[in-house]
Amino acid sequence: MFSEKLFKRLYHATHITFLTGAGISAESGVPTFRGKDGLWNNHDVMQLATPLALKTNTDVFWEFYNWRRRLVTDIEPNLGHYALVDFERLISQVTVITQNVDGLHQKAGSTDVLELHGNIMRSRCSECGYLPEADGKILAFDKIPYCPKCNGLIRPDVVLFNENLNSTILYQAQEASATCEVFFSIGTSSLVEPAASLPYIAKANGAYLVEINVERTPLSDNADEFIEGKSGKILPMITVLFEKIREK
Ligand code: OAD
Repeated sequence: MFSEKLFKRLYHATHITFLTGAGISAESGVPTFRGKDGLWNNHDVMQLATPLALKTNTDVFWEFYNWRRRLVTDIEPNLGHYALVDFERLISQVTVITQNVDGLHQKAGSTDVLELHGNIMRSRCSECGYLPEADGKILAFDKIPYCPKCNGLIRPDVVLFNENLNSTILYQAQEASATCEVFFSIGTSSLVEPAASLPYIAKANGAYLVEINVERTPLSDNADEFIEGKSGKILPMITVLFEKIREK
């Protein structure tokens, strides 16, 4: 199922980078975006995740985000998330770049996580930038929140459609992709930029490119290795095998 080359590359690696998408959280019960039960299948929902909807359709916007916030409040990381934490014992530098906003990598214990699309449990004032959670204030899930400093509209700290990513985090992600020796793309449809370009940056800089997914994506033919299966099953198998190889 796994190639000898993968373990050889891991054995000599000092820095590995993971790019994760909704698929890694699917086994925790978080819906993915595309595919048959995908969140974006409903076109109206896609139109909700925009800065315009925040301004003009605020109550429905927050209803949607509060529904998603509730969804991730009670969920737990799965074996896939924990396997990435295990890699930190085995390789000196491990970077996790995630497109997910659910915070499950941090909850599992990963220490170097770059959240490309923000975090749904964080919020910020759309006017003055005030950060309620950083100030110890937890927002209620049942009403539209307003800023205690300037009365501006509070919004979730996530990247909405038509918005740019945080440039510092994107730069750090590009750097972690360019400098790693093995790059894993896990549970992402590889369709959304700029995340979709990160595996190509890694490969162009000499990394061994591995994709783990339940189905093939536009990246699959360009990966050095495509491993078909659920990340919650495949990733722990890789860490267990790799640990055994290292013990020999
Ligand atoms: P998608 O919903 O587009 O893709 C999820 C991928 O996970 C698919 O390729 C599935 O085949 C795969 N998958 C599902 N279950 C899996 C499992 N158990 N193990 C491994 N793979 C599995 O989600 P993303 O690629 O993450 O952006 O979507 C990227 C961005 O599009 C999201 O971050 C979001 C969305 O618009 C924003 O909201 C800004």
